Amino acid sequence: MANVAVVGTQWGDEGKGKLVDLYTEGADVIARFQGGNNAGHTLVVKGRKTILHLIPSGILHDNKICIIGNGVVVDPVVLIQEIEELQKGGLFPPHTKLYVSEKAHLIMPYHKRLDMAREASSKGKKIGTTGRGIGPAYEDKAARIGIRVCDLYNESLLRERLQRSLNEKNFLLTGLYSEQPLSADEIAAEYLAYARKIKPYVADTSLILDNAMRAGKKILFEGAQGAHLDIDHGTYPYVTSSNTVAGNAACGSGIGPNVINNIIGICKAYTTRVGEGPFLTELNDEIGDYIQQAGQEFGATTGRKRRCGWLDMVLVRQAVRTSGITALAITKLDVLTGLDKVKICVGYEAADAEFTHAVPADIDLFGQCRPVYEEFPGWKESIPEIRKLEELPANARRYLQRLEELAGVPLNLVSVGPGREETIILSDPFCD
Ligand code: IMP
Repeated sequence: MANVAVVGTQWGDEGKGKLVDLYTEGADVIARFQGGNNAGHTLVVKGRKTILHLIPSGILHDNKICIIGNGVVVDPVVLIQEIEELQKGGLFPPHTKLYVSEKAHLIMPYHKRLDMAREASSKGKKIGTTGRGIGPAYEDKAARIGIRVCDLYNESLLRERLQRSLNEKNFLLTGLYSEQPLSADEIAAEYLAYARKIKPYVADTSLILDNAMRAGKKILFEGAQGAHLDIDHGTYPYVTSSNTVAGNAACGSGIGPNVINNIIGICKAYTTRVGEGPFLTELNDEIGDYIQQAGQEFGATTGRKRRCGWLDMVLVRQAVRTSGITALAITKLDVLTGLDKVKICVGYEAADAEFTHAVPADIDLFGQCRPVYEEFPGWKESIPEIRKLEELPANARRYLQRLEELAGVPLNLVSVGPGREETIILSDPFCD
């Protein structure tokens, strides 16, 4: 029996929601360990579309424990909204429990204001953030001036921390960004009301995970964003503010790294990106538009159109290395159906004409690289009804075979449509 981490291998939006939802059937506990409501998982269950930003996708299943770990930054407004919407829609299963780490840091109103003000004032140098306050919340955590979930239950400490934080934040908001200042008393009143609403869910989630593992339960660690949005290993500065690689599943949920046995990397059959930053295989042509339309590539969080391009295996191989990925799950293969030719980027030619298999750390050098492609014939046959690899069109199989060779790890699943059942399952990640 194994515990499994699921992480993105590209720039996020690889289709983790569907996969996590599928893998949840074999798990007892589902834990998120980083990011916040910058994520957006679109799930199609029984033909009904549900988007979750903060609560683990496992919540739609009964008899599970869902955890928002200490490494997540929590916007209580979104948490309460998602809980209430699930309850209203009859989607919060009766025997499923949701817990939020008492150590998770909170996203405060000034984090959102600063995130947006900073982006608005960074003319020509935007990151293209989701505007949810993620970066400023992680900044306060690292600066040791953040407010954690447990602080909501110590009113004097909460007020003191808020006042201290606002002395600095109001200076920035008014002085640098010409915005209105925020009131500590108003925020305290608002957050104390949230505190009462989320109290039943607040817990020592590290302990819950430990107890579950001792009882032989299977844990699924649900990553958000993707390997190349990682604050250390991504295309800095066009990244998010947390570690998205699998190593953070341990740190961000309060367990040791030795208990994670299998690491599944989710890889879309092509590449997309939202926000700014170099994207070597981007297609600014009718093929890019075709993929964008066929894949319905709009951000689940901001609704922005995603930039689309060919599969970049340099990115995926690097993700395999930085996350210790043991198998790949391929998503949205069906989106490529109908194209005459499909391409895979197998390396880069740097500005000095050197061939490289690694993403340069210097973002300008990365932007100057040119993708080196291998070209494959496409396929026209419809594939969403296929459930066996050998029944896929020969050209689709050849594409997957090359992808697997380049990744250096086996495929464990191929998704051929958005529905839960539109999936070719090759192995069970929970088996050692
Ligand atoms: P932030 O996480 O809102 O600070 O945004 C930083 C960068 O990460 C921007 O380019 C965002 O578009 C990107 N980003 C954040 N979350 C996601 C996600 O879930 N999917 C794809 N991109 C994301």
